[in-house]
Amino acid sequence: MTDATKDTQASNAMWGGRFAAGPDAIMEAINASIGYDQRLYAQDIRGSRAHAAMLAAQGIISDKDAQAIGEGLITVLSEIEAGDFPFSTALEDIHMNVEARLKDLIGEPAGRLHTARSRNDQVATDFRLWVREQCDAAITSLDALIRVAVTRAEEGADWVMPGFTHLQTAQPVTFGHHMMAYVEMFARDKSRFEDARKRMNECPLGAAALAGTGFNIDRHATAASLGFDRPMANSLDAVSDRDFALEFLSASTICAVHLSRLAEELVIWSSAQFRFVSMSDKWSTGSSIMPQKRNPDAAELIRAKIGRILGASVALFTVMKGLPLAYSKDMQEDKEQVFDAADNLMLALAAMAGMIGDLTVHQANLEAAASAGFSTATDLADWLVREAGLPFRDAHHVTGSLVAMAEDAGCDLPDLTLEQMQSVNPAITKDVFGVLGVHNSVASRMSYGGTAPEQVRAQVARWKEILG
Ligand code: ARG
Repeated sequence: MTDATKDTQASNAMWGGRFAAGPDAIMEAINASIGYDQRLYAQDIRGSRAHAAMLAAQGIISDKDAQAIGEGLITVLSEIEAGDFPFSTALEDIHMNVEARLKDLIGEPAGRLHTARSRNDQVATDFRLWVREQCDAAITSLDALIRVAVTRAEEGADWVMPGFTHLQTAQPVTFGHHMMAYVEMFARDKSRFEDARKRMNECPLGAAALAGTGFNIDRHATAASLGFDRPMANSLDAVSDRDFALEFLSASTICAVHLSRLAEELVIWSSAQFRFVSMSDKWSTGSSIMPQKRNPDAAELIRAKIGRILGASVALFTVMKGLPLAYSKDMQEDKEQVFDAADNLMLALAAMAGMIGDLTVHQANLEAAASAGFSTATDLADWLVREAGLPFRDAHHVTGSLVAMAEDAGCDLPDLTLEQMQSVNPAITKDVFGVLGVHNSVASRMSYGGTAPEQVRAQVARWKEILG
């Protein structure tokens, strides 16, 4: 008898006498999830230990059996962690692999573990525990990234740089302000994971196959021992929804969008055309053919991660759509996508924090670029409104003529003479030069949330307080 045949028989032995023959090999291949759900081993064993302890406390199994089960599960855990666990495809998934090994180890009491439980509530519990941990990991990683960004923002609170709209120079801003924009985004991302975690923190265990159980179980006890706030209130819902995973993927997708935007800026900023920043060697690669190249590969890969993370969201939304209650095997397709999205999100967050922390910012280049492109034209128009009493639309028009004049002369706005300016509008005085410099421009943007260094420092202080 081959090992595979033995395994097959072992698998069908799980279903009792109903099955005369083993599954077709292709059936086994499409049906098995052990190749990937073995990642849930720690959660599966944790859930089983909580369940066994509860069964004993309720007098449903003996203390002696519960103890044998608990100890056996710890042995299984250490075997898996040591990397010498004989995972079997014929045993389909992590739940049956663990249980079959437990039976090898402790014999008959292992068969009592599955009392008042089904793989349906078991997998829902395991997966919730896993996704909850990933929310925690995302929260921790985002927190680290936010701290790095706040530090860089404080350092560059009064470094002027061009602010862009349409990637065309618009108005001067400060580097600190730009960094703090991402702090706001990443902080919202963090709060999305926090919210999702709160909502998902209810325990499906004890919902059994779909209808609950006739055994006198204590669902509040298992929920509490697994760190859940409460048991889920409806057994059908408990086994059949995966909205917690969808929320995790949604929060991950939005976060990956933010990461990709910052990554794209780093790619642009580190180009020879911009030279705003240099990426540290730690986060760059060379080219095998062009010796001068320093490629921002890490930033490019972070920019790309949104592809697979959004892909995972689309995949799971599509799997769940239209499924009738309660459990269907379709739901086994939930895991790989979430595993992949979580792994890549954590990697991207860590790489981004490292890159931002190690970034060399070229303050002089930022400043030179900030003054180019008539970036203080709006300041000039605002001055005409404030000091010369022009309606804004007229001021806009006058400024446009002055920009055209400077463009023709091949110079910047502050390089025009007072006479040249007065030829366009005689109300202009020499005081206008006070607002044409980029430092004056940013310093004047004192509205709440504006780019003035003073405002940026206030925001940095607020975040430092929040972050503790
Ligand atoms: N491997 C399965 C999954 O991931 C476990 C639940 C199986 N339940 C069932 N009724 N066949 O969904």
